[in-house]
Amino acid sequence: MDFTGAHILSIKQFERADIERVFQVADSMEPYALRRRVTRVLEGAILGNMFFEPSTRTRVSFGAAFNLLGGEVRETTGFQSSAIAKGESLYDTARVLSGYSDVICMRHPESGSVAEFAAASRVPVVNGGDGTNEHPSQALLDLYTIRKELADKGRQVDGLRIAMIGDLKYGRTVHSLCKLLCLFQNIHVTLVSPPELAMPAELVEEMRAAGHDVQISEDLMHGIGHVDIAYATRIQEERFSSKQEADQYRGRFRLNQAIYTQYCEPNTVIMHPLPRDSRADANELDNDLNLNPNLAIFRQADNGVLVRMALFALILNVADQVDRHSREVNWYSGRR
Ligand code: NCD
Repeated sequence: MDFTGAHILSIKQFERADIERVFQVADSMEPYALRRRVTRVLEGAILGNMFFEPSTRTRVSFGAAFNLLGGEVRETTGFQSSAIAKGESLYDTARVLSGYSDVICMRHPESGSVAEFAAASRVPVVNGGDGTNEHPSQALLDLYTIRKELADKGRQVDGLRIAMIGDLKYGRTVHSLCKLLCLFQNIHVTLVSPPELAMPAELVEEMRAAGHDVQISEDLMHGIGHVDIAYATRIQEERFSSKQEADQYRGRFRLNQAIYTQYCEPNTVIMHPLPRDSRADANELDNDLNLNPNLAIFRQADNGVLVRMALFALILNVADQVDRHSREVNWYSGRR
């Protein structure tokens, strides 16, 4: 695909070569993300970061990624602080705000809303999550993490064995990840969820049509038995009609160190898009996993900055100029 000026709305836009390109550029961002070097390649550029749903990682890492490339970030968070609360349409908001930015990242509770916004925008738009539909940059950083973690163990993505656990009905991260895995070969996927929160049938069909082996289970211990990656997700409480309805499912699948030791292969990598729900009635990934070297959740979150830097560099067509505009850092940067 031609990245220059492109909207990033769905994983469906990508072919395998595009993924390789994003990952190659992401790798090259490491000295900047690790604060060994600074670059001013996007000096003067403005990111409009518009988040109409709660977000910590996605919003801050998009912002940090843009800042790390030398650009400025303008934020709009929540409907109440935006003119949408006064009845303004997405069309008008897009026409106006795209006049103030070079690129826009947007999260919105309705599926399809970011694409609608992008159609009216004068600058490229990146989907930071639209309802239950998609979260393409998360899927890219998830796959980037899977690839890195497997490479450390001498494996590659083709042939991957992965369990996706939790709320597979409403979880947009796993929806985008399934679509992304369709670009690879011979994937074994075990979908562990309550039947009411199962992966949408069309995504299961898509994976099977791609030649993947898809198993469906309600049993966590069975699901995590023979996988390279155990990918846990949060019950998407905000998508249920009431908290009580979500409470029925909360805490159904809890992974802790004892269960990991008993049921997982020794090198199984644990992932989660975060936030993990650590309240006592949920505790989907127990804190006693924190010292487990295979808990990759914070490496995964760190990788988000690299992948988002890569997306900006490609969309704004500066991937080949980043180093030319760089220098060493002149402050203490002993981050561990
Ligand atoms: C996810 C999301 O918003 O879809 N969070 C994220 O962006 N890392 C997952 C979630 O909220 O459960």
